[in-house]
Amino acid sequence: MSERSRNLPRRSCLSTPGSSDRFLAKAPTATADMTFLDLEDSVAPNEKVAARAKVVNAIRSQDWGERVLCVRVNAWDSQWTYGDVIDVVGNAGTRLDEIMLPKVQSAADVVAMDLLLTQVEKNAGLPVGHIGIEAQIETARGLINVDDICAASPRLETIIFGPADFAASIEMPVLTGGVAIPEYPGDHFNYVFSRILMAGRANGLQVIDGPFLKVRELDALREFSQRTRMLGYDGKWALTPDQALVLNEVYSPTQEQFDRAWDILEAYRVATDENNAGAVMFGDEMIDEASRKMATKFVTRGTRAGLNRSAN
Ligand code: GLV
Ligand code: MG
Repeated sequence: MSERSRNLPRRSCLSTPGSSDRFLAKAPTATADMTFLDLEDSVAPNEKVAARAKVVNAIRSQDWGERVLCVRVNAWDSQWTYGDVIDVVGNAGTRLDEIMLPKVQSAADVVAMDLLLTQVEKNAGLPVGHIGIEAQIETARGLINVDDICAASPRLETIIFGPADFAASIEMPVLTGGVAIPEYPGDHFNYVFSRILMAGRANGLQVIDGPFLKVRELDALREFSQRTRMLGYDGKWALTPDQALVLNEVYSPTQEQFDRAWDILEAYRVATDENNAGAVMFGDEMIDEASRKMATKFVTRGTRAGLNRSAN
């Protein structure tokens, strides 16, 4: 399902308001791995219906290159979801990779989107399964059901944390979502980050962190995004092209890590294939089959980010 985009990088996922001609025109020029054109919370209720045609036009008339292209539709508790999908997939489904579904509360929400997509794809003459799904976890109920949500459809490509809506859902006493809370001793979202990561990885999904709302504070973004980068997340939302540049760096391995991962794979191959050893010294550390797995992840992610192994 949705083969083109499933394994493409998503270090930076740029949010673009679907009602803004200016932002829609600018979006393809940003250096972001993924772009989503938003019909949900960055679009005013009075603009919701008109924004659909703007989004369709932007998808069809602009060159989006290789990036993953997604539209965030309105949540099932609104009156707009089915109309968003019929209009956007029906009229611009060929280039579109995915639909993002916000405020997912249960596996049934994802199944309903899967069924609707199948009908719209059939009517539009698209292959069934062409459009993937990105699901946002942004409520207490969604987090409780995250295991079932991540297993709900073969169309799912990513699971995303939405810190702003989530803070509202659990009644956290903050007025800015997705930033550090100095008064809290530690990382207030560590449990949530880990919980979503386990569910996503157990089901082979990419796992994405949501927005950092202080858009002018790029150093603070760099620092804050290490929390999910170091846990193993694939990427994070960008609200501006400048945020995307920071995230492309943060969620890529460094050249040094990439080269070291290749060296580990090479040393381990020689040890196992040529010397029949399962564990071997690599510099001053012991490496074995688990080291090979860790190194393979670095090589895959680095290759996806466009790195090449340095010449020795
Ligand atoms: C994103 O949608 C969020 O609510 O943080
Ligand atoms: Mg949200």
